[in-house]
Amino acid sequence: MNTIMVIGAGQMGSGIAQVFAQSGYHVYLNDMNESALEKGMKNIEKLLNRAVDKGRMTEDEKTATIRRLSPSINLQDAKNCDLVVEAVIENMDVKMSVFKHLDEITPAHTILASNTSSLRITEIASATNRPDQVIGMHFMNPVPVMKLVEIIRGLQTSEETYQAIEDITRKLAKTPVEVNDFPGFVSNRILVPMINEAIYTLYEGVATVEDIDRVMKLGMNHPMGPLQLADFIGLDTCLYIMEVLHEGFGDSKYRPCPLLRNYVKAGWLGKKSGRGFYQYD
Ligand code: CAA
Repeated sequence: MNTIMVIGAGQMGSGIAQVFAQSGYHVYLNDMNESALEKGMKNIEKLLNRAVDKGRMTEDEKTATIRRLSPSINLQDAKNCDLVVEAVIENMDVKMSVFKHLDEITPAHTILASNTSSLRITEIASATNRPDQVIGMHFMNPVPVMKLVEIIRGLQTSEETYQAIEDITRKLAKTPVEVNDFPGFVSNRILVPMINEAIYTLYEGVATVEDIDRVMKLGMNHPMGPLQLADFIGLDTCLYIMEVLHEGFGDSKYRPCPLLRNYVKAGWLGKKSGRGFYQYD
């Protein structure tokens, strides 16, 4: 595998494109929105400059990494790719449409991966005529820093596809973990209910935002408190994942906290909107 396309130039997509390019792959970073694409490329350059400043990368390595990255607004560029990693909005209809197009555009050998945080790979795969070559590749935020990639086997994912993605994950200097296709996989099935419980703790007036986070940071050694982490992930994303868990398992223990719903309805989406449980400049 030499040439990769990452679709979606947001925080996750640009991070994924960066780690592939740093590991020697030629990468198309694709987004249909030109300004989002420009922002994604600028963000990568900023992080690479920081790596040079910190002595983790030479100026030559940075230049070579940037040369391996091609911005793309045309999905047809996927015809040159051995692997496509989709990181678009968490919406099943949108993802199925992207995968249907990719199935038509890409060569027969191309593997189609999704960075979905909770949607079923098996369902996404059903939009293609190659469900054996469709797989989940779930990176964690911030992608350049976090070591984990959850690799999700859809019901029809072949052993060959799984092995190819496990190998490539190791080449990115990340650690693969094999997961079956159930709502929230492992990471978000455990993480997001914990965040939801922290929001219930706030909602019921047990403690303040700062103190809830302090308990988990100092008491459990978490790098961020759950409310700070919710702001970092995006409150809309947290709510969406809780809804996927609630619907997928049909179990009331996954009901989203009404306070989370209120915040999302108010447009308080966390860091990206300037306000969530905390205020941001
Ligand atoms: N992108 C790239 N690099 C970043 C970054 C970002 N957004 N944020 C921080 N970093 C880098 C910094 O550059 C820094 O590197 P240097 O030391 O070389 O400068 C390093 O990470 C540490 O950063 P800081 O010193 O500023 O801050 P920190 O020590 O608190 O670490 C953190 C920041 C790595 C984000 C840490 O707080 C952390 O691990 N938080 C929890 C992250 C987490 O839980 N992620 C999973 C989210 S859930 C998810 O992704 C799944 C999903 O589907 C929702």
